[in-house]
Amino acid sequence: MGVTPIWPQAVDRSESGELSIHGIGATQLLEQFGSPLYVMDIGEVRQRARHFVQAAANAFANANTHVSYAGKAFLSKRIVRIMIEEGMLVDTCSMGEMSIALAAGAPGRRLVLHGNNKSDEEIELAIQEALPKIVVDEPQEPERIARIAQRLGKRARVMLRVTSGIHAGGHEYISTAHEDQKFGVPLLAAHTDACVCDHDAPVWEAMDAIADGPAIAALKSILSFEDQLELVGIHSHIGSNIHDADAFIQAASRMMLLRKTLYHTDAYVLPEVDLGGGYSVAYTDGEDSMNVDAELSRLAQALHETNRRLGMPAPVISFEPGRWIVAPAGITLYQVGTVKRVNLPQGSKDSEGNPIEQRTYVSVDGGMSDNIRPALYGAQYTALLANRQGSEQTWLSRVVGMHCESGDIVVHECQLPEDVQRGDVLAVPVTGAYGRTMASNYNQVLIPAVVGVDAQGASVMIRRQKIQDLLDLDQD
Ligand SMILES: Cc1ncc(COP(=O)(O)O)c(C=O)c1O
Repeated sequence: MGVTPIWPQAVDRSESGELSIHGIGATQLLEQFGSPLYVMDIGEVRQRARHFVQAAANAFANANTHVSYAGKAFLSKRIVRIMIEEGMLVDTCSMGEMSIALAAGAPGRRLVLHGNNKSDEEIELAIQEALPKIVVDEPQEPERIARIAQRLGKRARVMLRVTSGIHAGGHEYISTAHEDQKFGVPLLAAHTDACVCDHDAPVWEAMDAIADGPAIAALKSILSFEDQLELVGIHSHIGSNIHDADAFIQAASRMMLLRKTLYHTDAYVLPEVDLGGGYSVAYTDGEDSMNVDAELSRLAQALHETNRRLGMPAPVISFEPGRWIVAPAGITLYQVGTVKRVNLPQGSKDSEGNPIEQRTYVSVDGGMSDNIRPALYGAQYTALLANRQGSEQTWLSRVVGMHCESGDIVVHECQLPEDVQRGDVLAVPVTGAYGRTMASNYNQVLIPAVVGVDAQGASVMIRRQKIQDLLDLDQD
């Protein structure tokens, strides 16, 4: 029996209805590794990484492309090694992320450092390890990096993160290039009409506006520390879970205008433009995921045209996908604890506006501590009974966690068999990104293990926390 495309390709269902991945049953995985359990299809991660790198190279046939995997989506030593083997860099944004990547054996020259509030120690490590890109996030940072580089007797390679003014992304908290937020340096002064640098405006007018903006001032500041800093490019990350290339085209065109402006004012050709991450995946049946082959080609064509119009050579174009690579490769398995049916107030409706009278609350042994996204962003997931077929009749169900919050929801709405009961196993797909990396110990609940599965079998990538881990942290 098949499953729908939101599940990894190696997922199947037996005659009895049990879900398996690479031939290993859900029940066996829980027996061997405990519940709840993050399961990563390692084969799928590798295949998706390869797919993205190839899609970028194919789309930008006339330019060099670099792809960095955004480690914030999910990081472990094994994942780092896969990304390096597939020709990627790894984007990190803390001492912890850099340390895991280095411990995995990644050379510093394959890492990137981000962060809107980097510590001196993080900058020092990045310079010592010769990272090819330290992404400057605020106007005072070049001076600080230059001072540290001077002390170390080295030259740091830096980019500037620029907020283009383009609004994109599924939720305010994951939309990162509008003006009123903490990341990057704005392209335009606040008083300027943001649209001045869009398609139809005359190039010189746009360049005049950009030449007065904070981004160009920050770039000049970087150039003024020539002995300590090498300016390698500009960076634009507009948000997350974006379905098509439209917003990327707008933001990237503005970056090309900034590049032209710097060439005009300082005769400096920025070698690289990094367009960040944000490529969408489908979380539920019927949702769209970004077709990276088609959309990166559209982006490439638009940028080719922009640079031709500006009379500029093509820069190296870089990408930082996280979610697109790992989200669809992960599923979370939970055990059902309690099932409770509640009568709803008159006039209640489901998410599609249909009247409903009852909802079944299915509580599992995890929740917002292993997947905060539904509580944080209202993210939608779905779930499947994974240890058996279950009755044909289904209930409108809400899968909830075990935490002391009524917002502790795993799946807002899905159909589960009417006979779902304590001891059953539920599987939630598309949990490979921003699940384990955003996990917490809320209610002192232990963070589950991550198990990697491929054709060779299953093995622990990150071990389950133990009560002793919690006790060890408490130094009283
Ligand atoms: C700078 C930067 N690059 C890349 C990413 C990865 O985004 P996604 O996982 O949506 O591809 C993020 C996510 O927040 C980011 O902040």
